[in-house]
Amino acid sequence: MSAYTTRQLTAETWDDFAELVEANNGVWGGCWCMGSHPEGLGEGREAHRVAKLAHTTRGTVHQVLVYDGDACVGWCQYGTPAELPNIKNRAAYDREATTAPDWRIGCIFTGSKHRGRGVARAAVAGALEAIRAVGGGIVEAYPEQTVERTPQRGAYLHTGPEELYADFGFVRDRKIAKWRWVMRAEF
Ligand SMILES: CC(C)(COP(=O)(O)OP(=O)(O)OC[C@H]1O[C@@H](n2cnc3c(N)ncnc32)[C@H](O)[C@@H]1OP(=O)(O)O)[C@@H](O)C(=O)NCCC(=O)NCCS
Repeated sequence: MSAYTTRQLTAETWDDFAELVEANNGVWGGCWCMGSHPEGLGEGREAHRVAKLAHTTRGTVHQVLVYDGDACVGWCQYGTPAELPNIKNRAAYDREATTAPDWRIGCIFTGSKHRGRGVARAAVAGALEAIRAVGGGIVEAYPEQTVERTPQRGAYLHTGPEELYADFGFVRDRKIAKWRWVMRAEF
């Protein structure tokens, strides 16, 4: 049983989220988990922080934070395709797209000091529980294949490892990059 707890990212939990981001150098040098949002990246670290805070206070973000005691140690961001239009390998994704999912997992992240201890698993479980609570639907994730490949440090698994999603029932839909798959499941 996981000892972690989860909460949504809201104005109330913003400081906990911000502390984790700052402790990890802004995440990828300052993305502040803005890559999947409509604005995307490019305006710089402080602009990303301000934009993420604006989404949080407006309530235009769905993001489950994982807590170890009082400390936020990771997250799973999810949302509708309209909320999260930017995904990696977009052109390849669009080439064979059929029906749009109801939800997608945008970003998954565990603080560098907390990896390998089930934080991402708790984050995905929390996100799927939240999706189920509002009626469920088809959920997509875009993880990386790790088998038949040299071992990857977690830091390089930007969209998470395939096994994590497979454990929740996601199955491969199609390949969109050498090591990245669209995976789908219905909840
Ligand atoms: C990938 C990442 C989210 C995994 O988080 P984590 O909390 O360490 O993962 P967990 O401990 O919950 O692992 C769950 C499962 O994922 C798989 N997994 C995790 N790390 C893995 C690795 N490095 N290689 C292969 N599989 C891995 C395993 O199947 C694991 O289950 P197990 O421990 O029972 O074997 C984390 O390493 C990370 O944050 N990396 C950076 C991601 C990033 O850059 N995000 C921002 C995107 S811009």
